[in-house]
Amino acid sequence: MTVSVAAPPGPKLSLMASLLYRPGLGNPLEFFSDVARTYGDIASYHIAGEQLFLVNDPQLIKDILVTHHKNFTKSRGLERTKRLLGNGLLTSEGATHLRQRRLLQPAFHRDRIAGYGRTMVEYADRTRRSWTDGATLDIAREMNRLTLSVVGKTLFDADVESQAAEVGEALTGVIESFWMMLLPFADLLERLPVPKLRRARVARARLDRIIYGMINERRASGRDHGDLLSMLLTAQDDDPSARSTADLARSHSTSRGGAMTDQQVRDEAMTIFLAGHETTANALTWTWYLLSGAPHVASKLHDEVDRVLRGRLPDVADIGSLGYVERVVTESMRLYPPAWLIGRRAIADYPIGSYVAAARSILIMSPYIVQRDPRYYGEPERFNPDRWTPEFKASLPKFAYFPFGGGPRQCIGESFAWMELVLIVAAIAQQWDLRLVPGHPVELQPLITLRAKHGMRMTVTRR
Ligand code: HEM
Repeated sequence: MTVSVAAPPGPKLSLMASLLYRPGLGNPLEFFSDVARTYGDIASYHIAGEQLFLVNDPQLIKDILVTHHKNFTKSRGLERTKRLLGNGLLTSEGATHLRQRRLLQPAFHRDRIAGYGRTMVEYADRTRRSWTDGATLDIAREMNRLTLSVVGKTLFDADVESQAAEVGEALTGVIESFWMMLLPFADLLERLPVPKLRRARVARARLDRIIYGMINERRASGRDHGDLLSMLLTAQDDDPSARSTADLARSHSTSRGGAMTDQQVRDEAMTIFLAGHETTANALTWTWYLLSGAPHVASKLHDEVDRVLRGRLPDVADIGSLGYVERVVTESMRLYPPAWLIGRRAIADYPIGSYVAAARSILIMSPYIVQRDPRYYGEPERFNPDRWTPEFKASLPKFAYFPFGGGPRQCIGESFAWMELVLIVAAIAQQWDLRLVPGHPVELQPLITLRAKHGMRMTVTRR
């Protein structure tokens, strides 16, 4: 069906600008913020032959992610991440996604992840004990190392601490080249003798080696570690016919019954490895940054942690009493949502407001933009955890706050992440005060996740 309706307002980009404004090459956050400010809830523009819609209204976002989700696939950008993540949960579609989600869901059940809390605290304790009073550290790096260890241990029962530098370097190489992977002809580009691209290929191969290493070890020992990897290796699909022939063709080993092949296990492991640590590390980094600029908030946080914990390490049972810590983290992810962009591609023409997004249009929704909208948040730029009263939460429209997305593709690790964030912030704030080094440049770097471009140099002082 072709519906002839005027396109929504939006910037007219020259060919040059349209190329330059490819997210990652220009500054996409500034660009999207400008577009939203100027054109309102639905804006549209063309970029390199694609029609994009920037959608800033919570109800319309809910319609896309939840009510009419069947009319969308992940946008082409994310499909291209398959180069890295294969056909894991984040990048798969349709029947494959449904099946994988069903297989993985039990591993992320609230009761199951409660058991991971102890590991989160143990590793946070290890980190806080490794610091010396007055030291200046790159907190972004520290948080990355910490969350990488947590995901390695809780989901793969592996102590990746010893490998952290290697894994970290490989991941950084892979993530930095991410936007390049989205460019047309990326396959071709990657083969060119450009050092950055070559590094990306090497980094990917290195990550593969690490993960296949873990899988082989398990297959050889046959031991059930009770972690996610064991679940992946033993998970059985009730309906093997649900598996796509493409999956089978890509597999490394012959699969029996409805079990996953090595390749599928690798894809899920890589997905969780990547999705499960970078996001949380960024949320923690921005939280420390915000606390450093708001000493009165930091001191309220310290008061709560001291009163609730009385000097002992936190555990899962304390989370309910650490309400202020939770508010701090909530407010931090409002201002700096680690997944700052969610994209979908329309399968069929999609009526949106008084417009129609033609089939194949890309719809972009940004928690970063909506969560700074003055219609929903008074003084939106101010870090104010106190705003998160139960009344405020109840009055907020759904999808005016959506750092974890929504609908059938909502973050599977959301409960895991909340638990990790609250426990780690509590454990570290219990002993340390973190202050940004004066003059350290803080600049946003919106890659897959919202990173601090120059890291986060902070001085740690023992409390
Ligand atoms: C602060 C931390 C985190 C944030 C902000 C976050 C955010 C998100 C968002 C927005 C999505 C949906 C993307 C879309 O709809 O296109 C998502 C999906 C996903 N996340 Fe997270 N995430 C976090 C932590 C985690 C953790 C800890 C894990 C695993 C241990 C994880 C695993 C995943 C996976 C596997 C998906 C794909 C789900 C699917 O498509 O079915 N995430 N995440």
